[in-house]
Amino acid sequence: MKAALNLIFLFISCVSMAQQVKITIQESRAKDTISKHIYGHFAEHLGRCIYDGIYVGEENKIIPNTNGVRNDIIKALKELQIPNLRWPGGCFADIYHWKDAIGPKDQRKHIENLSWGNIRENNAFGTHEFLDLCEQLGAEPYLAVNMNSGTVQEAMEWEQYVNNENGSSSLTDLRATNGRKKPWNVKYWGIGNESWDCGGHMTADYYVNLYKRYATAMTSYSNTKKLYRIAVGPGTPDYEWTETVMKNVPARRIEGLSVHHYSVFDWSNKGSSFEFTDNEYYKTMKRAWFMEEFISKNDEIMNKYDPEKRVELIVDEWGGWYETMPSGGGLLYQQNTIRDAMIAGMTLNIFNNHADRVHMANLAQTVNVLQAIILTKEEKMILTPTYHVMNMYKVHQDATLLPSKIESNVTYGSIPAVTISASKNNDGKRHISLTNVDISKSLDVEITIDKLKSATAKILTSGKAQDHNTFDNPNKISPVDFKDFKIKNNKITLTIPPLSVVVFYEN
Ligand code: AHR
Repeated sequence: MKAALNLIFLFISCVSMAQQVKITIQESRAKDTISKHIYGHFAEHLGRCIYDGIYVGEENKIIPNTNGVRNDIIKALKELQIPNLRWPGGCFADIYHWKDAIGPKDQRKHIENLSWGNIRENNAFGTHEFLDLCEQLGAEPYLAVNMNSGTVQEAMEWEQYVNNENGSSSLTDLRATNGRKKPWNVKYWGIGNESWDCGGHMTADYYVNLYKRYATAMTSYSNTKKLYRIAVGPGTPDYEWTETVMKNVPARRIEGLSVHHYSVFDWSNKGSSFEFTDNEYYKTMKRAWFMEEFISKNDEIMNKYDPEKRVELIVDEWGGWYETMPSGGGLLYQQNTIRDAMIAGMTLNIFNNHADRVHMANLAQTVNVLQAIILTKEEKMILTPTYHVMNMYKVHQDATLLPSKIESNVTYGSIPAVTISASKNNDGKRHISLTNVDISKSLDVEITIDKLKSATAKILTSGKAQDHNTFDNPNKISPVDFKDFKIKNNKITLTIPPLSVVVFYEN
């Protein structure tokens, strides 16, 4: 208790008296594009993410669906302009055999989900269902191959099954028999998942040798987009792993390096997702802010071997992770409060600002698991505060990053109160996203930006960090217009409320 009070006191005493934050948008330094894939998602066969989440089954007459996928979820994901979806895991990918989940549903093999709760998996949602869903969403699929209990042959055949021309082999005949004549043309392929842990507890050297076998066997067919192979990177500050991969994998066999980082302050006691102390709030934000260091240090090592930044960083698992809700909802089901909106706002700003190296990121996980953007309960569905941040920030997708320089900020130990990123889209319109992680104080902010005449703004905020949407009160937290700002002489001045995410949209 005493330690907790000391920590809070330290945070408070670090706040400068003026509380003035000064930022300059440096448009003349603009050169990088913020890949839309930074706004990607991740869906695993875990808890109620796929079954009783995204997929309710073709036979379901109560919940409106298309090919078994909830229509309300399809609509919500389309609204986000979801750029990509990673599947089938996570840890599940390393026990997954794709051939178990194709063909007539009543003939599919039932397996035990050894990664998540040992439940029976009937494989009703397989390759066809997933890739058809991505087509409906207009999202790029990102498939993770089984590198632990699977084989190189199995991965090679999966790729052939989904990507090769019709009639090129018996695998493409099989695809046609199963109802799909033309290939899906899948570009993104993850080779392994957390191979240092659930993916096989490998050493980096062992992983690299195995990776090279997969990456050599998995080839781009003449009819496909060039294959984008993603190697496993670290999920902790194990930068030796990054070094080993970058040093030993030939440049022509790797396109991306994946890293994972969850904002967990204590893995043995992750705390409640909606009943937490101020101290726990700041500890979570500190872990979220670690993403900045994690990306910078990985980038530094990658620069040694790849200064042209040809190999891109893929943060394919990120988000808040708390104790599973005791009241049910499935494995790793958690509530999503304004704290999660702050994690999302801050993290997306970090990704945007590292657009020169970060190509893709996948929030864990889309529906009913971890920092979900959507929660479901029978026919009801709610959009979480994190969903709203993704929606407010989607203007940054494929826009040009406008570097910003923070000249003064308010800090809490190592955490900056205000984070920012800015971009300019193809129509020349500029957008600025800001967060104020302070739990109780408004901050005065001045942003210098050339030739800005007028803009509108939206804010997502709430009185208490624990506030969240519920099935009875689904719109408690949703974005509203923000008017507390002035634009004059190339400056935006605003007072940003505590616990808030604000986005400016140039008119
Ligand atoms: O997202 C949940 C799990 O977290 C994933 O399956 C695994 O890759 C990570 O440890």
